[in-house]
Amino acid sequence: MKASIAAPGAPAGAPDLPVEALRAEFPALARAGDFIFFDNAAGAQVPRGVLDAVNRHLIEHNVQRGGRYGRSVTVDETIARARESLAMFLNAERASEVALGMNATSFIRTVSLAIGQTLKGRDEIVVTSLDHEANIATWLALAPHGAKIKWWEARADGTLHIEDLEPLLSSRTRLLACTLASNAIGTIVDVRAVADKVHAVGGEVFLDAVHYGPHGLFDVQAFDCDYLVCSGYKIFAPHMGFLWGRHELLRRLPTFREDFIPDEPPGKIEAGTFIYENVAGMDAAVHYLTGIGARLAPDQAQRSTARENLTRAMNAIRSYEQTLSIELLRVLADCGATVYGISDHSQVAARVPTICFNVPGVAPARVTEHMANAGIGIRDGHLYAPRLMRRLGVDPDTGAVRVSLVHYNTVEEIRRFGAALRTLER
Ligand code: ALA
Repeated sequence: MKASIAAPGAPAGAPDLPVEALRAEFPALARAGDFIFFDNAAGAQVPRGVLDAVNRHLIEHNVQRGGRYGRSVTVDETIARARESLAMFLNAERASEVALGMNATSFIRTVSLAIGQTLKGRDEIVVTSLDHEANIATWLALAPHGAKIKWWEARADGTLHIEDLEPLLSSRTRLLACTLASNAIGTIVDVRAVADKVHAVGGEVFLDAVHYGPHGLFDVQAFDCDYLVCSGYKIFAPHMGFLWGRHELLRRLPTFREDFIPDEPPGKIEAGTFIYENVAGMDAAVHYLTGIGARLAPDQAQRSTARENLTRAMNAIRSYEQTLSIELLRVLADCGATVYGISDHSQVAARVPTICFNVPGVAPARVTEHMANAGIGIRDGHLYAPRLMRRLGVDPDTGAVRVSLVHYNTVEEIRRFGAALRTLER
C-alpha cells in the first residue's frame, strides 16, 4: 500500500470555484499584467484583506504587546484572535495548542532540540527522503546527541510506501517526521495511515504541513498527529510560522524560555517577539479562505460555522486544482517532458498541483530562463529536497524544473506556459 495514495479529505462533488472573482481580490495579479505566477510554492500572493490587515496594524497599533494602553491591548487582542483563527483552521481542541513565530524551520528546530533531550529509552527518529530538507536536517542534527536515525525512503515513483515504514518502527521509535505534501514533486502523504502505525508502537508524529497548506483542509484530529508545523507565506499570508502540538506533549517539552515566561504552552514555545503585523495578516488569510466557503453557498453561509465554510472552500480548491494538475500534466506530456512523481491522471487526487519535470537534453536552468523571458515565473534546482532528487535519479546540483500552482492560476495560463515550452530550443 502506498502511503501517498489516499489523500486526506479528498473532495467529492465540490462546488465550482469562482476563479476570476477570486483573482480580482489579489492586487499583485492585476499589477503584474501578463506575468504568470507559477512559483507559488516559493511564496504565494496575498489578497487585499491580508494587505489591509498588515497595513492597519502598522498604521494603527504598531506597538509592543503587553502594555496597559489601548494600542498595546489591541495587539494582544490581534494575537489572541489569530490564535483562535488558526485553532479553527487546524481543527485544534484549544487555541493554546497553537504557537506563533517566525517560520516553520525555526519551530522544527525548537521542537527537535526539545525532543533531543527526551530520547532516554526511545532514541530512534524516522525521517523520509520525500521531505523538504528543513524537516530532515533538523532531526539529523540530533544524531551527535544520541538519536538513531532511520530512513523511510521514497521509491522511484516519488511516493512513500507504508510497507517500507513498518520494518523501521519498534518500541525504540521516539518520533517520525514527515511531510503532508512534497514541496518538490507534490505527492500527498496519507498521514493518518502513518500515524496509526507510529502510534501502535508508542511513537509520536511530527508533520511538516507547509506545502499542503494552500491545497487542502488541515485537521489535526483526523490526521491524529502529535505536532504540526506550517508557514503563512504559501497560504496567502505574509512570512510567519505556526506550530500546533498536543497540549500535554507541549507541556512536557523542555524548551528554552526566559524565567518570567510561564512553563506553559503557547508562551513556552514562542521565544522572543515575532512579527505581529504578519500574524494579523495570517488571521486575514484564514478569513479569506472561510470567505470563499461562504461565497460558495450564500444561502447556508450565515448558518455555517467558520470551519464548515473553510471545509467547503478547501474542498472546492482541491477539486479545481485537480483540473489544473491534469491540464499541466497533459501539456508536459505533449512537450515530451519527464515528470517526477505522480503523472497518471487517475491519481491526481494523491498530489497537489506542484509538478516537477525535466526536458530531456535541456538544462533545467535554461528552461526556467526561457520561461522568465516569456513572462512566466517558475523555479529550477534541487528545490530544497536534494535527497529526493538523488532518489529520483536527478543530479541535485542541476536539479529539475518546478511549476507550482494555486487556486488563482488558470487553465489559460497553463496553455500559455505550454505554448512557451514548445518554443524552447532543444
Ligand atoms: N520551501 C519553499 C519552496 O519549496 C521555499 O520553494
